[in-house]
Amino acid sequence: MLKRLIFVGILVAFATSDNVVYKDCGSKTGAITTVGVTPCPNEPCLLKKGSNISMAITFTTKEEVTKISTDVYAVLLGKKLPFPNFPYPDGCKDSGLSCPLKSGGTFKYNSTLHVDSDYPAIKVLVWWQLADQNGDIIFCFEVPAEITN
Ligand SMILES: *[C@@H]1O[C@H](CO)[C@@H](O)[C@H](O)[C@H]1NC(C)=O
Ligand SMILES: *[C@@H]1O[C@H](CO)[C@@H](O)[C@H](O)[C@H]1NC(C)=O
Repeated sequence: MLKRLIFVGILVAFATSDNVVYKDCGSKTGAITTVGVTPCPNEPCLLKKGSNISMAITFTTKEEVTKISTDVYAVLLGKKLPFPNFPYPDGCKDSGLSCPLKSGGTFKYNSTLHVDSDYPAIKVLVWWQLADQNGDIIFCFEVPAEITN
């Protein structure tokens, strides 16, 4: 029984921790430890139209954070286009974070990206950034993705 539980636990751990290879795009007052995208077993992450993608980022802070504004972009042909109607611009809300965040701490941020059925089926880079009360980037990462039917 215990063995089976441990086995199932390991399976769940694998199934839910899709840590991806990302490019840092300017983290300044924080540093990324891991970027998890679920589902994304392989890159580019396939973003199925009509689905919800879960994001889980572990990061550390180098300064105190009292406010967080989140911006999500699709980078296409070198242009940064804001993801339309991203519903979680306030990174202190619905994100697992309770602000203020102390300096020198480790935190886990989570969010959801809804892939609208109206998006074109194209390859994009997903650019995700959190800025603090001074407009400085806490963390920023870029992950290759492809919107699929
Ligand atoms: C995605 O999330 C939205 C908002 O929570 C929800 O209404 C919708 O049913 C979800 N879609 C899927 C495919 O899970
Ligand atoms: C973040 O995780 C919490 C706890 O699991 C959940 O209630 C919340 O909806 C998540 N936020 C987003 C934006 O998905």
